Amino acid sequence: MRRLRSRPRTPRALLAALAGALCLYGLGTAAPAQGAAADTPAPATAAASLNQLAQAHGKFVGSAAATSHFSDTQYTGILGSEFGQVTAENEMKWDTVEPSRGQFNYGPGDRIVDFAQQNGQSVRGHTLVWHSQLPGWVSGLPSGEVRTAMENHVTQVAGRYAGDIAAWDVVNEPFNEDGTFRTSPFYNAMGRDFVAHALRAAKAADPNAKLCINDYNIEGVNAKSTAMYNLVRDLKAQGVPIDCVGIQGHLAIQYGFPSDLRQNMQRFADLGVDVAITELDVRMQLPVSAQKEATQSQYYANVIDACLAVTRCTGVTVWGFPDKYSWVPGVFDGEGSATLWNDSYQPKQAYNAVAEALGGDPGPGPGPGPGDGCDASYAVPQEWNGGFTAAVTVSCDGDSLSGWSVSWGYAAGQRLTNAWNATCQQSGTRVTCTNAPHNGNVPDGGAVTFGFNGTWTGTNPTPATLTLG
Ligand code: G3I
Repeated sequence: MRRLRSRPRTPRALLAALAGALCLYGLGTAAPAQGAAADTPAPATAAASLNQLAQAHGKFVGSAAATSHFSDTQYTGILGSEFGQVTAENEMKWDTVEPSRGQFNYGPGDRIVDFAQQNGQSVRGHTLVWHSQLPGWVSGLPSGEVRTAMENHVTQVAGRYAGDIAAWDVVNEPFNEDGTFRTSPFYNAMGRDFVAHALRAAKAADPNAKLCINDYNIEGVNAKSTAMYNLVRDLKAQGVPIDCVGIQGHLAIQYGFPSDLRQNMQRFADLGVDVAITELDVRMQLPVSAQKEATQSQYYANVIDACLAVTRCTGVTVWGFPDKYSWVPGVFDGEGSATLWNDSYQPKQAYNAVAEALGGDPGPGPGPGPGDGCDASYAVPQEWNGGFTAAVTVSCDGDSLSGWSVSWGYAAGQRLTNAWNATCQQSGTRVTCTNAPHNGNVPDGGAVTFGFNGTWTGTNPTPATLTLG
């Protein structure tokens, strides 16, 4: 059932929508909103949007969207042009949608849906049943009334947006870190059955939306992700409608990259559900440094590589932008710089890393830089059952290098075992090799080659893009 479109539009909503539709970088300039400078330059960005690059792989790149920033035309311009999917950051949560029992407020959620529809984007519904941002009246209900209230909420909200939502986070964050169920009004009243009850109610209300369970700290194989795995397996066995698992992806460079992300996504896919990275950001302890940004870029690229390597990974959604609008600084003291755009809407190194991991060109930089006339190429001179030797050549023509690094992503699970004439590290699917002490200098017209052995199973495709730094 599609919702009635009888809501009046405010002039401001129209302006924001128009700005989002017109402000495709390089094609037009958005009308300035109140407080925005008319001559603000459009930010540099890669020729193809992140979502266009992802579409070439049959996937999407999305973002959390917040109506509180819709009067910022730089925000709506990027939101409308770079992404193919949006997730309401707060607008569809219980405390907004049903703040008092039976009183539904769809205004903020509708603005998200309207924005998405005007920009040809799909919408992820976030979220129907969650212990947080839950109004006090739910927590105060007698245990015997919680199921009715939960099913009514799911039925009303999923029904209202039926046809507008590609995938719902029907249940959000049901687990503790050790894999036990988190206590919540829902778990306390129904035990683990609350998940099945919520999914069945959502299916009845919107039979076409993909129905997901979403959680954080389930990127790698661990107790929490295994609990999610077992839950999905059991729900499937019981015939409960479950289509997808959302892996939030709130990463921090100081905690390391979950190198088994791909393997973990694949085990969910093998259960017969889709997976997606639903809330990606990569924070760091401030201040920012070049090294931290390089690590952050690597993490973002690793996530893209992992999604590209898993057929049932439908896409990657970043949890907002630019850095100044991120939830991170308000929650993690002294941490930040977690998104792909800086506070002035300049795409960061991590943006280019995402674009390159998706097979695109890096965005335009400030001008020619060191090593711009240098290139890296990849060859596999020997391959045998399960193993291979590869050679990477760094060559310069019109420029020179004093120190270099080459990185790439493996799309088919290859693992590097040992390297010579370079120091190589593999993190997840991403490999980075830096020069050995004796071969950092590559003169104009010169070349150096390093080699390594690796393992493969199935296929051993050549990496689509090599990034020379
Ligand atoms: O809207 C009110 C405003 O009226 C009030 O003046 C202000 C005072 O604090 O609060 C505003 O509400 C805040 C809301 O964001 C909108 O900005 C809430 O306090 C604040 O708690 C809320 O934070 C959100 C958080 O979820 C709540 O748990 C973040 O924006 C949002 O990014 C974050 O998103 C979650 C996902 O839903 C689930 N996964 C983790 C992720 C990060 O925590």
